[in-house]
Amino acid sequence: MLVAGNWIMILDLASARQLTSGVVSAVGTPKGTGVALCPPFVDLDATYSLLHGTGIRLGAQNMHEQDSGAFTGEISAPMLRAVGCHYVILGHSERRQLFGETNESVNKKALQALSHRLVPIVCVGESLEQRDADRHNMVVEEQVRAGLANLEVSSSSEIVVAYEPVWAIGTGRTATPDQVQDMHGHIRSLLQDIFNEAIGSGIDILYGGSVKPGNAAELFQRPNVDGGLIGGAALNAEDFAAIVRCAEEAA
Ligand code: PGA
Repeated sequence: MLVAGNWIMILDLASARQLTSGVVSAVGTPKGTGVALCPPFVDLDATYSLLHGTGIRLGAQNMHEQDSGAFTGEISAPMLRAVGCHYVILGHSERRQLFGETNESVNKKALQALSHRLVPIVCVGESLEQRDADRHNMVVEEQVRAGLANLEVSSSSEIVVAYEPVWAIGTGRTATPDQVQDMHGHIRSLLQDIFNEAIGSGIDILYGGSVKPGNAAELFQRPNVDGGLIGGAALNAEDFAAIVRCAEEAA
């Protein structure tokens, strides 16, 4: 189980420090579930200082696929490692929709993350149009197969997949537990096919899209739902801690 907070582009340094301290005291020491915070780049270093030794891990929201070079405005995997990142979110639907990321670019970044011992949280999910056209399983299969192509892992803890239906992100409209369970089962079989039975069975598959304290327990109790990628509700320490407790209870 893993509960990761995606702080999107919301908090400046002072607010990030304040929220991190709030999360550390509200969550306490994570019990049987992983917990991670993914602040904007400029807040990573300060967030790590406050998280160090708490058992809560640090993640970034994106990275570039090269180690270094003339890529103005970009951030590399070694830079993320140097400020204490354990995770990096890749291919979030906002990156795909607004910044032109493709399955191929997500795959390059995932390969790069693994080669620097960062755990990629690879995001997949269909649009409303694709779901309405009953193409969601196909779209997600393509994203999973292409995004994870040629990745070599020796343990299931080296990769995380997050299913985030685009129509449920930041909209207040959560996918139903049945829809989530169906898609997570589909992703589970894909992972077993891409890697092997043992590794594919152990990879955490997170659900993301309007997860709140009020719906987290029901989602996390479903088979193959191994936690959540939390946006809006992660910006409130008490709400985020309540969601972590739901994961702890489901673990
Ligand atoms: P949300 O966002 O929880 O606000 O829907 C999810 C995300 O940004 O990954």
